[in-house]
Amino acid sequence: MARGSMAAVLAVLAVAALRCAPAAAELPLVEHPAKNDGSLSLLVVGDWGRNGTYNQSRVAEQMGKVGERLDIDFVVSTGDNFYENGLTGVHDQQFEESFTNIYTAQSLQKPWYLVLGNHDYRGDALAQLDPVMRKLDERFVCMRSFLVNAEIVEFFFIDTTPFQLKYWTHPKDSHYDWRGVAPRKDYIANLLKDLDEAMKKSTAKWKIAIGHHTMRSVSDHGDTEELLQLLLPVLKVNGIDFYINGHDHCLEHISSRDRLTAFDKHCSFQNRAVRR
Ligand SMILES: *[C@@H]1O[C@H](CO)[C@@H](O)[C@H](O)[C@H]1NC(C)=O
Ligand SMILES: *[C@@H]1O[C@H](CO)[C@@H](O)[C@H](O)[C@H]1NC(C)=O
Repeated sequence: MARGSMAAVLAVLAVAALRCAPAAAELPLVEHPAKNDGSLSLLVVGDWGRNGTYNQSRVAEQMGKVGERLDIDFVVSTGDNFYENGLTGVHDQQFEESFTNIYTAQSLQKPWYLVLGNHDYRGDALAQLDPVMRKLDERFVCMRSFLVNAEIVEFFFIDTTPFQLKYWTHPKDSHYDWRGVAPRKDYIANLLKDLDEAMKKSTAKWKIAIGHHTMRSVSDHGDTEELLQLLLPVLKVNGIDFYINGHDHCLEHISSRDRLTAFDKHCSFQNRAVRR
């Protein structure tokens, strides 16, 4: 290739790189292959870290039994991992007291993929995201928004707390740790773009989105308007099969007539423990 044309190619590349610069970064991807027979099983839990109280320990024990029966591949947490105010830092004892020392069953010694909930944002939100946590307990894989590719299913983990406008405008007595998030508008725009790109690329048979907040709910918190307005269209256009969330402490399964999207709320331990 002549020197002149190489320079031209480099110039074009430089322009392309510049044009890409403002675009959001790719979402982190975790490869978690399904079992050899192609199947996959998992448990979903949310709204849990209470030092064993509120029946957390009793639910953990049952999770251990069910996890063994199902031979689970991993656990998903839909957030509100530590009450009331997340972790105070990476050395917070609560990490051991509410996680490591609670989920001790053999079957639960698998990766845990976690998102943050609103309560997690009320402490040091960066602590749970810090890879140093994995040195304390290697199961703990917590990121803001990320993908888990399990072959037959691709999971889209979504950081939903920044969507809720009231946490920004009316935080009441709570402080929210928006480091790495503010300004809200840019964060959400980039996130939606990243999700859309990742969902379009996915070839998995099933596509499941995970987030903390409700999209539809007939319980305490009700619908989350910001998610219906901003996130749901992205899930719909990309044929996401389920959205699984926490936040409301009850069990609901909501399906919609227009193909997408079933909304599944995991059952948090308080209510299930009371009912059984
Ligand atoms: C958490 O539970 C443990 C064991 O029951 C107890 O020793 C500890 O004091 C509790 N921590 C808090 C902060 O309540
Ligand atoms: C724990 O479970 C018991 C038995 O199901 C129930 O009576 C109790 O109300 C539960 N406690 C809390 C704090 O949810």
